[in-house]
Amino acid sequence: MLYFKNSELSSQYRISLKTVRNWIEATKQGKLNLTLHTQGDKAYVANTPGNIAIISELVESRRKYRNTNAAKTISPKDEFYSIYDERQIYDIAANLEIHHEIPRQYNYFNGGAEHWDKYAARLASDNTPNLVNSTIRLLNVNQGYIDDLLSRYKKVNVVDVGVGNAHPVKELLEHLLDQKKLGRYIALDISPSVLEIAENNINEWFGDRIQFEGHVYDINRDHFSDFLIDEYTGKDAKDTVNLVLLLGGTLSNMRDSDSGYKVIHDSMGMNDLLVHTTKLDTQSTRRYFDFDLQPGESRLAAIHGLVVDLLNIDKSFYTVEMGYDPELRQRYEQIRLKVSLNIKLKFNNGEHIIELEKDDAILTWRGLQQTASDVMSQLDRSKLYPLHISQTDDREYILTVSMVKHD
Ligand SMILES: C[S@@+](CC[C@H](N)C(=O)[O-])C[C@H]1O[C@@H](n2cnc3c(N)ncnc32)[C@H](O)[C@@H]1O
Repeated sequence: MLYFKNSELSSQYRISLKTVRNWIEATKQGKLNLTLHTQGDKAYVANTPGNIAIISELVESRRKYRNTNAAKTISPKDEFYSIYDERQIYDIAANLEIHHEIPRQYNYFNGGAEHWDKYAARLASDNTPNLVNSTIRLLNVNQGYIDDLLSRYKKVNVVDVGVGNAHPVKELLEHLLDQKKLGRYIALDISPSVLEIAENNINEWFGDRIQFEGHVYDINRDHFSDFLIDEYTGKDAKDTVNLVLLLGGTLSNMRDSDSGYKVIHDSMGMNDLLVHTTKLDTQSTRRYFDFDLQPGESRLAAIHGLVVDLLNIDKSFYTVEMGYDPELRQRYEQIRLKVSLNIKLKFNNGEHIIELEKDDAILTWRGLQQTASDVMSQLDRSKLYPLHISQTDDREYILTVSMVKHD
């Protein structure tokens, strides 16, 4: 018999998993008329026209009941409207409403950039391996290979996609300067505050040896080829290569990481190189959360909390959950609402109210768990050809060097 996974019903009808489980329990007790499908010791809602009609009614009556029920009504803080533009606010609202998710990238804005900078600085100086110090190490041990690829060019432009505080790229830039090969250093990031931090660092480390070139840029939408057209057509075009960096697993936080790869693919030239680093799936990385929280402490990590705070979702309205979801193969951090909420958002043309229910979970962070072969498959379906891969000996971090596939 065809049946719905609980998570399918939960996302299709935007209800909590707990509500689905309650329906199944109520059916077992004879209080609801759903047809169940049993598999092993588990019962699921069967996919039948009768069940679909009952569920639609249940969802509808829940909505009606809610209107008379005491949902808390909240409005975002004023800064919310000065930090994000209307398109970004719409993106946050749509993701919240449709996917019950706060897109990770909006937490890097404003004070969120400082939180990230502090966090990344701590990771860089830690002795135990993590994504930041392993990225630096992998860049370092693979420098000889990268040099060989760059040896046929006189000039190398570095395009740092999702620059963060630029720390992981410091030694590479120093190395290219020593070789008198560094052309432009182009830092791209969705967050103006992150770009400011990166610019201050580059100026402090290199003074006028590097002209920092930063652009506000969204990897899910914008091609970066626009910034490189001059090099493509100039007289030095043949002697110049673009070294594109995608460091620190930036795309593994996104709901659709393929879309970022597509933009990168479509922005790269024939000879350009993409260097990418990320964390890999192992039993131990599935369990590991290094978010500057004390053991057992249940609060939203500072690096993931900006949007929740700006939306005015008070700490007393939720509990925090972290774990590994084997179905989606991702680690997650989410808030579980203790109360129903109406979030009133202002747009130029009026207001939009997002209704969230008690027990709804809102995803604040995901880390896609990929094996090395998942990474290879993703590059392959993104039409990128991996020339080289390298892993740390604990098998938890990977660096790849790729080119655009061509005949
Ligand atoms: C995980 S950090 C990695 C930073 C740095 N590359 C490193 O390895 O330390 C992700 C960075 O990408 C930026 N970012 C996240 N989503 C983005 C998007 N959609 N477009 C552009 N930048 C984005 C963030 O602001 C942040 O600086």
